[in-house]
Amino acid sequence: MDPAADAKRIVRKGYDAVSHAYRADDAALAFPYDRFLEHLTPLLRAGDRVLDLGCGCGVPMARELAQSCDVTGVDFSAVQIERARALVPTASFVCADMASVDLPAASFDAIVSCYALIHVPLEEHRAIFSRVHTWLRPGGHALLVVGSQTWSGVEDYLGAPMFWSHEGTETNLRWIEEAGLTVLTHEFIPEGDVGHTMVLARRPQA
Ligand SMILES: C[S@@+](CC[C@H](N)C(=O)[O-])C[C@H]1O[C@@H](n2cnc3c(N)ncnc32)[C@H](O)[C@@H]1O
Repeated sequence: MDPAADAKRIVRKGYDAVSHAYRADDAALAFPYDRFLEHLTPLLRAGDRVLDLGCGCGVPMARELAQSCDVTGVDFSAVQIERARALVPTASFVCADMASVDLPAASFDAIVSCYALIHVPLEEHRAIFSRVHTWLRPGGHALLVVGSQTWSGVEDYLGAPMFWSHEGTETNLRWIEEAGLTVLTHEFIPEGDVGHTMVLARRPQA
C-alpha cells in the first residue's frame, strides 16, 4: 500500500474506533466552535449551501449550521457518517475522501473544515485548497482549521493509532492564497500546550 493510502487507512479506522470518545452525541456548542461560528454566521444567509469537510459526527458544527442553512457533510469514517445522519437529520452526509469526492463547481456559499485537514497527507493539502476554491461560488467564504506548526507522524489518540500531517501557519496561508482564495483573517486557537490556526478566506468575485 502506498504511504498516503496507508495513512488514510489509519485515520479512517482510527475515527471509526474513537468516534464516541472524541465527541458525545449531545456535545454542547463550546469553545472553539462558538468562536468559529462568531466568524462565519454573520457572513451567512438563511438557506445558504454550506459544505463541512471532515464533518465527523456532525456535532456541533453541522448541527448548528443546519438550523438555518442547507448543509452537506463529507467524512470518510463510516461510523462518523452513520452518527451524523442520525444526529443531524436535516443535513446531507456523504461518506467519501475529501481529496477525491466529486462535487459540482461553485455550488457552495461557504465551506468549513475543522480539525480535518490536519489528518490529510501533506502532499494533498494544496490540491484540497484548490478544490475548496473550485467548490465555492465567487464571493463565498471558507473557514478552515489548519496546522500552526510543521509536524507529521502517528501517535496514540484516545486509544487508537492516529496520523497527523500539517504545515505551519505561514505556509498554510501562502498555500490558501496560491489556491486563489483571499485570506480575510486568521487566529491562533489554543489547545493544551499547542494549538491550530483558524483561517477565514473568501473566493474573490469573478
Ligand atoms: C478531528 S475530527 C473533526 C471532526 C469535526 N470536523 C469536528 O471538528 O468535530 C477529523 C475528522 O476528519 C475526517 N477526515 C480526515 N481525513 C479525511 C479525508 N481525507 N476525507 C474525509 N474525511 C476525513 C475524520 O474521519 C474525522 O471524522
